[in-house]
Amino acid sequence: MNGTILITGANRGIGLELATRYAADGWRVLACCRQPENALELQIRQERNPGKISIQTLDVSDEEGIRALARQWKGEPIDILFNNAGVRGGELQDLGNVDVETWLQTFRVNTIAPLQMAAAFLENVAGSRRRIIATMGSVMGSIAENSSGGQYIYRSSKAAVHMVGHCLARDLRARGIISVLLHPGWVKTDMGGPNATVSPMESAAGLQRVLANLRMEDSGRLFDFQGNELPW
Ligand SMILES: NC(=O)c1ccc[n+]([C@@H]2O[C@H](COP(=O)([O-])OP(=O)(O)OC[C@H]3O[C@@H](n4cnc5c(N)ncnc54)[C@H](OP(=O)(O)O)[C@@H]3O)[C@@H](O)[C@H]2O)c1
Repeated sequence: MNGTILITGANRGIGLELATRYAADGWRVLACCRQPENALELQIRQERNPGKISIQTLDVSDEEGIRALARQWKGEPIDILFNNAGVRGGELQDLGNVDVETWLQTFRVNTIAPLQMAAAFLENVAGSRRRIIATMGSVMGSIAENSSGGQYIYRSSKAAVHMVGHCLARDLRARGIISVLLHPGWVKTDMGGPNATVSPMESAAGLQRVLANLRMEDSGRLFDFQGNELPW
């Protein structure tokens, strides 16, 4: 076995392709999703990769759910913790037109959950061979790259999670854990929409390559799916 990867939001989009790729490469995949009974495509991928994909119930906005899952996997090395689950933050995101409750919920999923996941699964990652925490950020959360404004909810949640991942890199360096932020490209998923330029397969393949080549000096940095470093 190559190792174990835990992926949040593994039932569709980029998370589903990541789960499939790692399983096909012989990894054990803890594929987390909110409603396993409705995750039909993930179930199909599970059948195609016998013994590789273990489907786990997890709503990342449920802190007790995160802790319960961590208790269940206590003592099991997890080589890569992949914080992939994310939400767009709804339609009302422009100046003077922001829905505050949606903003708070978006922060729970995109920003707070990755830190809670890292804390809950810290010993699993620390006890593994590769010791990687990967968190999905976005170029939309880059202040340096922001030329258009708007999208306050999504942009702020991703800018904030960049800081979370960067702090994790500092805090966990002494334990040999690498924490990176990743931008998957503009990907043709429910979130990215039909005009996006990158397929989920291409994005997942690129992200997998980036993770395979990480060194400690990459910790605390933001990379796109082609391995290019992006500015904050
Ligand atoms: N697509 C892009 O162009 C793009 C660009 C930059 C960054 N990203 C980031 O990449 C990640 C994956 O995006 P995607 O394009 O694959 O999006 P997607 O197709 O919309 O999939 C989002 C995934 O997150 C899950 N999720 C949402 N809320 C959750 C919660 N509370 N608990 C657990 N899972 C939850 C969804 O599960 P349900 O089915 O249960 O809702 C789904 O599996 C996100 O973090 C996104 O912000 C995407």
